[in-house]
Amino acid sequence: MKKVFVETYGCQMNVGDTEIVLSILRNAGYEHTKNVEGADIILINTCSVREGAEQRVWGRLGEMRRHKRRGALIGVIGCMAERLREELIEKGGADIVAGPDSYRDLPRLVQAAGGVNVELSKEETYADISPVRTDGNGVSAFIAIMRGCNNFCSYCVVPFTRGRERSRDPQTILHEAKELFEKGYREVTLLGQNVNSFIFPSSGFRTALPYGYPNPHLRSVNSGPETSGALPESSLSEKFIPMMDSALTPERTMDFPDLLKAVAGISPLLRVRFATSHPKDLSDKLIETMAAVPNICPSIHLPAQSGSTRMLERMNRRYTREWYLERLAAIRRAMPDCAVTTDLIAGFCGEADDDHRQTLSLMREAGYDFAYMFKYSVRPDTKAACEMDDDVPEGVKSARLMEIIALQNELSHESNHRDVGKRFEVLVEGRSKRRADQISGRTPQNKTVVFDGEARPGEYVTVEITGCTQATLIGRMIK
Ligand code: 5AD
Ligand code: SF4
Repeated sequence: MKKVFVETYGCQMNVGDTEIVLSILRNAGYEHTKNVEGADIILINTCSVREGAEQRVWGRLGEMRRHKRRGALIGVIGCMAERLREELIEKGGADIVAGPDSYRDLPRLVQAAGGVNVELSKEETYADISPVRTDGNGVSAFIAIMRGCNNFCSYCVVPFTRGRERSRDPQTILHEAKELFEKGYREVTLLGQNVNSFIFPSSGFRTALPYGYPNPHLRSVNSGPETSGALPESSLSEKFIPMMDSALTPERTMDFPDLLKAVAGISPLLRVRFATSHPKDLSDKLIETMAAVPNICPSIHLPAQSGSTRMLERMNRRYTREWYLERLAAIRRAMPDCAVTTDLIAGFCGEADDDHRQTLSLMREAGYDFAYMFKYSVRPDTKAACEMDDDVPEGVKSARLMEIIALQNELSHESNHRDVGKRFEVLVEGRSKRRADQISGRTPQNKTVVFDGEARPGEYVTVEITGCTQATLIGRMIK
């Protein structure tokens, strides 16, 4: 049996895609190995979101020549594959290049010992593929619920590398979540570039179907071609009937809050999380659903990118600072204990000192629990690359990023201090990595807690917080 090794870079979507790729290759007779030396096929699952991520992969490709010489096949998959195509073969020495929507073609490409497939699809969601869970703790898993992105933020390459947005059949999502629960998993994170625009049937499917849905929400969200008024059930296409259940009737499409509720309904012992939310689409219905269902975790990743409305407009984010703060207030009204985390970009095109100060003030107002912070990096083909000047000097970008990081460190520490003295239900993940005599788990807000005691992975325990560092809560097990 030939052995395949995969190295994964970038976001959680890529981690999920690696599991899909392994499943496709396993079904074609290839065995997964965690040892690169013994691998016959070496795949690198890549990220294009910032230049640094791409540089790292070019470096790795250089190192792979050694394996190429001993006869291994080298493949580049993921966003860089989509963006750079043949260049990866010509300059990088890769044998195989496969974009995010062509993984079903990998067995053929491997069989042929080389080739390129970077075709993007409007429908592919790998819905029927059962991912091979390779790492992780056996407690917490990610489930991709949609692919692609239609937002075209002006700095972002994702809509180009991952193609149009499409939602996965909810039945297959529920099935996957149920299976995980039965295997002992106690937490699932539903993943997508913008989960709030999850809608099924999604526009790609809807245009293909011979009937429409009388759902006003759907029409306002998505103005794709469709007819109105429900047709009698007998006219539903054969293809659609097997996926019907009480949650998905002709009168009702499934949106993201519906899906969350359905997944949470699998068991009160299953924690449900999600990422990422675009602020422009964060609905009251989502907030109400989160507040009403105890096992949907009170934690929202809500990338702001900037605190300046002028910058947000240039970024094509389609919300203002005020809109963002109002959404935050709505979250806090419904869930005072909800964790809010964010992404921020320093030094985007045209960013003045005042815009930067507005980002700092937004951070203080929001009191973020955690943030991913980046320096703006030009991405070819994006609107910013084509039409705007990358005019913030490197030194200024760095200084602003350092300021943002320093402030977030303070805010994270304050956020942890606020938890001291409180009690949380903690989902145990295993032994602490730093101290094997301690247990590590997470609060509903997704903060890591370490504490003394005995508890098994997947168990829920009550922990009182007695102290903290900037990154971790320290607690005492109550029961
Ligand atoms: N430069 C810097 N950061 C970027 N991101 C996306 N594109 C870029 C870019 N060109 C960040 C955004 C996004 C996160 C996944 O990566 O903050 O939310
Ligand atoms: Fe990129 Fe914006 Fe889509 Fe996120 S929402 S993937 S930042 S284009």
